[in-house]
Amino acid sequence: MHLGQLPLTLLVLMLRGTSETCISRPHINAVEGEPFFLKYCPLSPVHEPSTTKWFKTSESDEKVELRSSSSPRITLHDYVLEFWPVELDDSGSYVFQRGNDTHGWKLNVITRSKHSCFTEKQVTSKTVEVGKALQVDCSHSYYQDLVHRTALYKNCEKIENNKNPSLKKNAEFKDQGYYTCMFFLHHNGKLFNVTSTYNITIVEDRSTIIPAILGPKINHVEVELGTDVQLNCSAWLNEKDYVYWSFHRKDGQDPNEHEGEEIKIRTSEGKWQASRILRIENINEKNLNFSYNCTVSSDKGPDTKHFILVTKDGKTYDAFVSYLKGCGPAHGAERAFAVEVLPRVLEEHFGYKLCIFERDVAPGGAVVDEIHSLIEQSRRLIIVLSTSYMLNEVRYELESGLHEALVERKIKIILIEFTPVSDFTFLPQSLQLLKSHRVLKWKADKSLPYNSRFWKSLLYLMPAKPVQPRSGECEAEPVLAHGSSP
Ligand SMILES: *[C@@H]1O[C@H](CO)[C@@H](O)[C@H](O)[C@H]1NC(C)=O
Ligand SMILES: *[C@@H]1O[C@H](CO)[C@@H](O)[C@H](O)[C@H]1NC(C)=O
Ligand SMILES: *[C@@H]1O[C@H](CO)[C@@H](O)[C@H](O)[C@H]1NC(C)=O
Ligand SMILES: *[C@@H]1O[C@H](CO)[C@@H](O)[C@H](O)[C@H]1NC(C)=O
Repeated sequence: MHLGQLPLTLLVLMLRGTSETCISRPHINAVEGEPFFLKYCPLSPVHEPSTTKWFKTSESDEKVELRSSSSPRITLHDYVLEFWPVELDDSGSYVFQRGNDTHGWKLNVITRSKHSCFTEKQVTSKTVEVGKALQVDCSHSYYQDLVHRTALYKNCEKIENNKNPSLKKNAEFKDQGYYTCMFFLHHNGKLFNVTSTYNITIVEDRSTIIPAILGPKINHVEVELGTDVQLNCSAWLNEKDYVYWSFHRKDGQDPNEHEGEEIKIRTSEGKWQASRILRIENINEKNLNFSYNCTVSSDKGPDTKHFILVTKDGKTYDAFVSYLKGCGPAHGAERAFAVEVLPRVLEEHFGYKLCIFERDVAPGGAVVDEIHSLIEQSRRLIIVLSTSYMLNEVRYELESGLHEALVERKIKIILIEFTPVSDFTFLPQSLQLLKSHRVLKWKADKSLPYNSRFWKSLLYLMPAKPVQPRSGECEAEPVLAHGSSP
């Protein structure tokens, strides 16, 4: 909108306290139906009294002198011509004359909008940077004494209604919109209203910031071997800046390290924030005490933070072994596998520590609670699966472990199919979420040697261990206990 066409009321809206109500601009817009005035201000102080005259020139170039009696809507006093209210046919040229002093205006009366609380042609556009002060102060420099009530609207919805409504806040993007002050005033027993509308656009903060990664310079993250961790790097930055992780080593990157996508958001205050995850799965020794560096790159210079994984005093057991404890001859082999073969290989040969309820827990006590806490103290839950497994009370172990695994994401489950299970449908549905490679098939004698595919796969799923196979144990195979059939 052309500034020269702004009505006075709009100009003073945010300049409260100004007493300057003279209108010297030659082109003036007014809205049909609203009170309106033209005021002349003498350039130099007036000393001798002199008569003042107002003229209107209509389209036919006819110059008519205006008097208060010309129209019930017109009031003349001193240097002011008032319209109560101004109407479409008041458009035209107006001239004020006092002695040799004259001043002219061209008035354009705009049709009132029927569907809106303001008239689109009569708005003042204003741009505010997000985060900076946004102020709308409804006071009227000319009519203020006559105003008995003022309402402030945003997009034609009333947001405040009293004598001097105002809005003062730090601009947010959602503040964008049309703000209309509507002044209600009485004149000669009639109620009128005058509007002033601002078209406020909220723009981005044009200043650039020095980017900064959140949190301390060096972060020690406590982890357990064999578990997963997500390092979350977040930074305040500028729109063009970006965040990345450095985790490559001379010998290439560890395959268990995965950098996520950068996620960038703009807060309602207009600030940019980015975050990027580095996910390390099945943490091994190589991942410990290594500096994972997160950097925000920017024209304003980089900022880097370091993340170092350290072990905490971790879980008591590497794995909790769940198996069918039935004593019947049909289940003897499963039991022997769980309480003899697994410990002999995983504990004695590969140095893991297992929790086997029958072996490690004294009889008696609150079994259910105890199982739950033992599973919690274990990094893996190994389930020795057979068709009869689910029919037994061990089901509790399965469900407790499943809960930890799937809901709390604390433990990983390893399924060992000890005897061929033809029908997996008896398993809880949640087990179907497990990756199929976590189901290992035990193939009796074929699986027995330490270097069999079975143990290799199992070790892969077990928490990473720095410990090498024990020397001095040179037997090629763990033997099943006497009395149990393979
Ligand atoms: C303001 O005045 C106009 C013209 O008299 C009228 O049509 C309109 O309804 C009034 N608005 C309000 C909110 O009273
Ligand atoms: C209000 O401002 C916006 C953004 O600057 C502009 O696109 C729109 O045309 C303006 N509306 C009016 C009625 O001037
Ligand atoms: C990373 O941290 C930021 C900032 O605290 C947060 O907004 C974001 O959601 C986090 N990301 C994840 C995946 O937790
Ligand atoms: C991380 O930063 C440290 C200190 O600048 C440096 O010694 C280390 O090599 C960096 N690590 C990577 C993976 O770039």
